[in-house]
Amino acid sequence: MTVINVGLRDRSYPVHVGPKALEMLGELIPSEARRVAVITQESIPWSVDPSIGALTIKVPDGESAKSLSVIEDICRKMTAAGFTRADVVVAVGGGVVTDVGGFAAAVYHRGIRFINVATTLLAQVDAAIGGKTGVNLVEGKNLVGAFWQPTAVICDTEMLTTLPIREYRSGLGEVAKYHFLGSVPATPEGSTGAVVDAEVVAACVQIKADVVAADEREGGRRAILNYGHTLAHAIETAGAYDLRHGEAVAVGIAYAAEVARRLGRISDERVAEHHQVLSGYDLPSRLPRGLDTEELLELFNRDKKAVQGVTLVLDGPDGVEPVTGIDTTILRDALGTLR
Ligand code: GLY
Repeated sequence: MTVINVGLRDRSYPVHVGPKALEMLGELIPSEARRVAVITQESIPWSVDPSIGALTIKVPDGESAKSLSVIEDICRKMTAAGFTRADVVVAVGGGVVTDVGGFAAAVYHRGIRFINVATTLLAQVDAAIGGKTGVNLVEGKNLVGAFWQPTAVICDTEMLTTLPIREYRSGLGEVAKYHFLGSVPATPEGSTGAVVDAEVVAACVQIKADVVAADEREGGRRAILNYGHTLAHAIETAGAYDLRHGEAVAVGIAYAAEVARRLGRISDERVAEHHQVLSGYDLPSRLPRGLDTEELLELFNRDKKAVQGVTLVLDGPDGVEPVTGIDTTILRDALGTLR
């Protein structure tokens, strides 16, 4: 088992990574907590040890769980069960559940402790760590939320063995991203759709922990975690394309490499390295058919990062960093290479 510390002074916390990490849960519940609310979904095939004495609250499956009415429902159930500020929430699931469970914990009695048990690859390497919690509005995703750090995170890598393949690939998109932000063990030569092991998960968690510790509230450096995400969000907003989040991130990573090459920030060899990493995980690097270039460019302008013109997170001589004011011709031309 590897334990990685997210170093945030009095809000620091451990991330336990490895097979059977779930067995740590009992020890991680604070001794003064008398009640535990387990937030999960019907589709999550994992439960916690009943001796933990939990109130289980199931939120709807899928992204529809990320709503204020679900938060109200959770808080009312905890109130009915007599939860106090000493008690604890345990979110057991993927990114939706950790976002919802974390936000409920952030607002219940103005903030109680919570622990994430991440059951998907995407949650283990990304969503369960970092303290961004929140829900969607009809007007857009993650528009209401809070920075609220968990007190511990469990990434039991045995849970990944039963993940549906598309769910797994979605996590691989985020794993691919970390190859360009830090040091991640290479995928075995010649393998496609390589199954990552606990060592790879731990390497990704270490990179995320370091970035969050350096910039908890995304004042600067934390933006690099959005590598590949500007195009991914635009594809997701354009909608109706059968790509999971991490698959869209993979296309976004290929795109970021093409834009960086056109700006003279990286060499042809480095672009090839991007494609190697993506194909090593059997991830897509081309746009789904039918996506309109002008619609994508318009969506780039509406991106939260587009404060001074379109901003993309790009690789370069000093590593990955946000780059502003990129010429539309370059953006359009690079989209053309992904067709
Ligand atoms: N909860 C995900 C993050 O903070 O990045």
